[in-house]
Amino acid sequence: MEVLGIKTKIVKVGEDLVVAIEKGMQEAGLALEDGDILVVSESTVATSEGRIVDLDLVLPGEIARALAAKYEKDPREMELILQESDEILGGVPGVVLTLNKGFLYPNAGIDHSNAPPGTMVLFPADPQRSAAEIRRRLAKGKRIGVILGDSRTHPLRLGCVGVALACEGVEPVEDARGQKDLFGRELRITRKAVADNLVSAAQVVMGEGDEGIPAVIIRGAPVQIQDVSCEIPRIAPGECMYIGSLRSGPRPYTGGYDDLIKRAKEAMMSAYAPYSGFRVGAALLSKSGRIYSAGNIENASSGADICAERAALAEALASGEREFEAIAVVGETEEPITPCGICRQSLIEFGEEILIIMANARGDAVAATVGELLPRAFTGKSLYKSCSGSGDGRSSPEK
Ligand code: THU
Repeated sequence: MEVLGIKTKIVKVGEDLVVAIEKGMQEAGLALEDGDILVVSESTVATSEGRIVDLDLVLPGEIARALAAKYEKDPREMELILQESDEILGGVPGVVLTLNKGFLYPNAGIDHSNAPPGTMVLFPADPQRSAAEIRRRLAKGKRIGVILGDSRTHPLRLGCVGVALACEGVEPVEDARGQKDLFGRELRITRKAVADNLVSAAQVVMGEGDEGIPAVIIRGAPVQIQDVSCEIPRIAPGECMYIGSLRSGPRPYTGGYDDLIKRAKEAMMSAYAPYSGFRVGAALLSKSGRIYSAGNIENASSGADICAERAALAEALASGEREFEAIAVVGETEEPITPCGICRQSLIEFGEEILIIMANARGDAVAATVGELLPRAFTGKSLYKSCSGSGDGRSSPEK
């Protein structure tokens, strides 16, 4: 297998990358052949597509400023990360771990490196479309593959390896299950990340710095070029060995439920809490789009107290609601409030995916699903899967 680097001049914002690659190939006396796979650096693609942001023009919002202080980052950069990512899973000083278009990335894949001073490079808007377009323009009748490549670390390992963002003409993951190992045993879980491995090979030549090699031809790889255009297969976060094992605690609230938080704050004002003086408000969003809110309700006999969350839930249930998307809870606490055990149990009755947004009156907020806050919960499922198979004889709940 040969790995042939294509040197180009620095590709500037808005400049045509395909033209630069063609020129680079010409100067090196290279031409694409049937079976070649072209690996192209995603940040160069993004630059040529104009996906560059001037940091001075970014106005950080309240959430970005709070997260920037927490993770010791530039608030403008944090604002971009918030805009780009689907979810922030957590972080350490200087870097947050995010999901961006289903890819796990530090800082939503937003990069300083190889970006002009004072700017940052975002992901290509649609990596798959970019790869398809590069392939269409460069193929000229040849059977070639195109991969957009980036680099990323593995958990607990120092140094970056290649990772494919989009893949055209090459099956990105090869299923090796059913093949035999050296001793004739059937392989059970092995899948080969062909596209990622090819990007790693390309990066040995490409480098990460000022080499000026934004594309590499891989020739003679034992990989079939096919007429496929498929998304890089992904695993849902809950089923991923790394994320599934770690994702138990709350993560930063990244927006989308500001109105719900506001309603919970208003409900806090209606709390009846003469004994503790501790007011809590909750606002529950049903899947039908309606919001039910309440404050906590206390009693001289404290066992009769009703938390805000359960008061809101009771109101929603009384209106016939059974399916819920999220609940915001606001308390007069130093840290964002966290629902008590009874409320977690009451909520999980209606689904472990309900998102709980926990906030304090100052506006600090974190989020977690009820399933994350109450792992291994006792639910209706446990009841109806009891040894007798019939639970305690109660009929299945109507939801
Ligand atoms: N409380 C809530 O309403 N929600 C919570 O998540 C925690 C506690 C209320 C119950 C009681 O009225 C007061 O806070 C003090 O325990």
